[in-house]
Amino acid sequence: MFIDTHCHLSREDYDNIDKIIVDNKKALVDKIVVSGCSRGSIDEVMDLKDKYEMVYVTIGYHPEYADTITESDLDYLKSLFGEKKVVGIGEIGLDYHYTKENRDKQIWLFEEQLKIAEFFNLPVVIHSRDATMDTINTLKKYKVKGIIHCFSGSLETANIYINMGFLLGIGGVVTFKNSKLKDVVKDVPLESIVFETDSPYLTPVPYRGKVNSSKYLEFIARFIADIKNISVEELAEITSRNASSLFDFNR
Ligand code: NI
Repeated sequence: MFIDTHCHLSREDYDNIDKIIVDNKKALVDKIVVSGCSRGSIDEVMDLKDKYEMVYVTIGYHPEYADTITESDLDYLKSLFGEKKVVGIGEIGLDYHYTKENRDKQIWLFEEQLKIAEFFNLPVVIHSRDATMDTINTLKKYKVKGIIHCFSGSLETANIYINMGFLLGIGGVVTFKNSKLKDVVKDVPLESIVFETDSPYLTPVPYRGKVNSSKYLEFIARFIADIKNISVEELAEITSRNASSLFDFNR
């Protein structure tokens, strides 16, 4: 059984979420951790987790909203962490890909949410794009554990995160022809890997270009099983165990 540790599931992207859930089950996906990372999507995922057994959620404000999030938005976020099936905070982090001009504001938002994670003792799902050093330095200030979502850095960076106690979220990118991620994954211990799809984005080969969903986890798994020279079943068991030891699915 597979666990998708990070995906998005919005009516904006999918006409028929009931069917997505049925297809996931057929593809041996046991649990999916859906991320709500804007004001609107947080409310949407809170409904989904009540409706579908396999859905667990992480909630938090994505760095792309750093300029608009206020203290009262943070209070609203805090008010939701007592609820069932809310297993972590995310995706939160830093993204300098489009702009670094609001760096201070991004770091403020990131730190406020890391404080919340510390307070509630919840794992974090980290989004870091073109911001590796600031992400590492900020994380080092807090006692948190979690997943580096859509990890795509070097082996050196992978080892820094692993030594800090983080897991690496590996998804469709590893299957892309020009990706160097496979060489990194080869040298990363299995105990530090969890699967994710980041659907509807980053669909693995051979479906690259189509809308992604958790049912395609098996293609990511097959690819990594090949690299690691173990069976898909064994890999599914190890990565699901890694995910379950981070997220409390009994919440
Ligand atoms: Ni995402």
